[in-house]
Amino acid sequence: PTPETWRRVDAYFSETLVGHDEALEAAVADQEAAGLPPIEVAPVNGKLLHLLARMSGARRVLEIGTLGGYSTIWLARAVPDDGRVVTIEAEPRIAELARRNFERAGVAHKVEVRVGRGEHVLPTLTGEEPFDFVFIDADKESNTLYLDWAARLGHPGTVVVVDNVGRGGEVANPATTVSNVIGTQRGLEMLARDPRFDATALQTLDAKGWDGVAIAIVTAVGGT
Ligand code: DHB
Ligand code: MG
Repeated sequence: PTPETWRRVDAYFSETLVGHDEALEAAVADQEAAGLPPIEVAPVNGKLLHLLARMSGARRVLEIGTLGGYSTIWLARAVPDDGRVVTIEAEPRIAELARRNFERAGVAHKVEVRVGRGEHVLPTLTGEEPFDFVFIDADKESNTLYLDWAARLGHPGTVVVVDNVGRGGEVANPATTVSNVIGTQRGLEMLARDPRFDATALQTLDAKGWDGVAIAIVTAVGGT
């Protein structure tokens, strides 16, 4: 397929099955106006996260990497009114922008933004109720660390989704020197070898280009 054909198919799927949504589009517009990169998930991918969270019956969702909160809004809409999405954002300025987007989307009561780097914030979540669903979408160099915390903070049955595992095909280059691709490869190798997970991955061709998503289930909990 050429970019023209698969972009047309993605637009068709988006228009047919996702539709337009003011709060989500405003969140992306504000993110862009703030000079942030347009690296939120594609609409079809946001809806995939939403459906996976609903299918798994998730009440407590953990997201690592908030940005403008586009995927966070999709996830917050998937949990019941007494559910929670805890989302981790390293940059205070971005966290504030995301909070305004959650207010406008009417999901602020279900979302907690924790500001700080994942490696610092994740250990503080240890005493809380376990998470039913984890979405990993931050610095790819830390994917193995984030997966370890997903297993620690989850329970058998917790669904884990990792964004950007295709990386324009570079993920299949064993000689790559790109640090975020190496981080992605280590994460996938961990999902394969670590007995706490069972996983697969799918390539995606959507509004964000050629990439991929890994989907895993936590089979056992605890640290390695
Ligand atoms: C990048 C990060 C993402 O999470 C994404 O979805 C696309 C690109 C990046 O860092 O380039
Ligand atoms: Mg991403």
